[in-house]
Amino acid sequence: MSDTKSSDTVSVTVNSTGETIELPILDGTEGPRVIDVRQLYAQTGMFTYDPSYTSTASCDSSITYIDGEVGILRHGGYAIEDLAEHSSFLEVCYLLLHGELPNASQMGDFEHTITYHTMVHDQLQFLYRGFRRDAHPMAVMIGVVGAMSAFYHDSTDISDPDQRLIASHRLIAKMPTMAAMAYKYSVGQPFMYPRNDMKYAENFLHMTFGVPAEDYEASPAIARALDRIFILHADHEQNASTSTVRLAGSSGANPFACIAAGIATLWGPAHGGANQAVLEMLEQIGSKDRIPEFLERAKDKDDPFRLMGFGHRVYKNYDPRAGVLKQSTYDVLEEVGIENPLLELAMELERIALEDEYFVERKLFPNVDFYSGIILSAIGFPTSMFTVLFALARTVGWIAQWKEMIEDPGQRIGRPRQLYKGYVERDFVPMDKRS
Ligand code: CMC
Repeated sequence: MSDTKSSDTVSVTVNSTGETIELPILDGTEGPRVIDVRQLYAQTGMFTYDPSYTSTASCDSSITYIDGEVGILRHGGYAIEDLAEHSSFLEVCYLLLHGELPNASQMGDFEHTITYHTMVHDQLQFLYRGFRRDAHPMAVMIGVVGAMSAFYHDSTDISDPDQRLIASHRLIAKMPTMAAMAYKYSVGQPFMYPRNDMKYAENFLHMTFGVPAEDYEASPAIARALDRIFILHADHEQNASTSTVRLAGSSGANPFACIAAGIATLWGPAHGGANQAVLEMLEQIGSKDRIPEFLERAKDKDDPFRLMGFGHRVYKNYDPRAGVLKQSTYDVLEEVGIENPLLELAMELERIALEDEYFVERKLFPNVDFYSGIILSAIGFPTSMFTVLFALARTVGWIAQWKEMIEDPGQRIGRPRQLYKGYVERDFVPMDKRS
């Protein structure tokens, strides 16, 4: 399923010289057509300029397809709504890594492999102890995931397909263990070992909320809701953190170092950090009567406040993940039997914003982060863990995209260029002559 060079081309004419060049157009299996500018510099000595990549395809990929205008997200051709309804997170992991849904035997083997990689090197616990107890768990995760390169040398040779696969399995399997350890460390409780008789999400709940003093039984409804949250966050094509992982990986860096770079990028409030920011924003708004005041602030260009959980670079329609999460939010709140005033507030905020001309004109809709924080806090996670859960789930997307890139025979180091706006050459001025 590689891109196909169509017979169609684009002509670019430099008006000052009249020079015209033909650029090929590539067609993917779906999505916008792509102008191939790879020969542009060689042919004209000019670069293209697109600093935030609003019009640039940075790679080709067969993993995930998004149509942001319509609100479509598919992995391997399967709609996210279907995967969330009928699949499990580990099945989606297999799909992202291998491009096909597994049959029963493949699924059994995969589940076994992931389960038996969930324990981390015992020495790793001492790394946690080097952090302050009040460290943000995302700061801890960047450190410990990066440190995996120091613990698992036998899966850092990126030229070996077996080592690449083992590194992928280790990352998917150990992220819940390491995320739960980050939480346990922050609350001063002992680390909990993973349990091989539990499913992925259930095991994570056990490691997070269980204590050695008594048995912990996760509610099946909560475990299912969490598994669904993981599915919804598993991959999202070439977003900022995934592009970071690809760029880091393009230099030949080992996969653990690349994923640590992805976690660092995800932390920002414009990306994965938005789920924490949404809850903090809802708490700050406090009551429905203050919504108009905050909407005005969001619209005011002189005010840095933005409506967190709203807007998306790609979706100019309802984020399909937000639709699924909204329903899950009701299910979880019913299961835990709490009435959450923040949910009421969020729904009212969504209703008012979607009728507001500013948001309508700019096609700003709720994104995946708008409802995820409400569910996660109802399950019992503190806000500081929200982005960690996003990182846990997105690890498979990062590693699948990294693997796809490494396995591309045409892969080269990523090296963007620039439009230079600094000084032209000038003479060095000795210090005693400087003003
Ligand atoms: N509140 C108020 N105005 C907004 C918002 C918002 N949340 N988002 C975009 N706008 C305005 C923006 O000011 C601009 O207005 P104008 O055309 O008058 O200058 C217009 O809408 C276009 O926005 P943009 O900033 O050019 O869009 P972008 O593609 O660069 O940014 C975004 C996308 C997600 C960073 C942005 O919408 C945002 O900051 N949203 C809030 C943070 C958030 O929820 N992030 C989670 C994204 S989804 C999860 C993930 O992928 O990690």
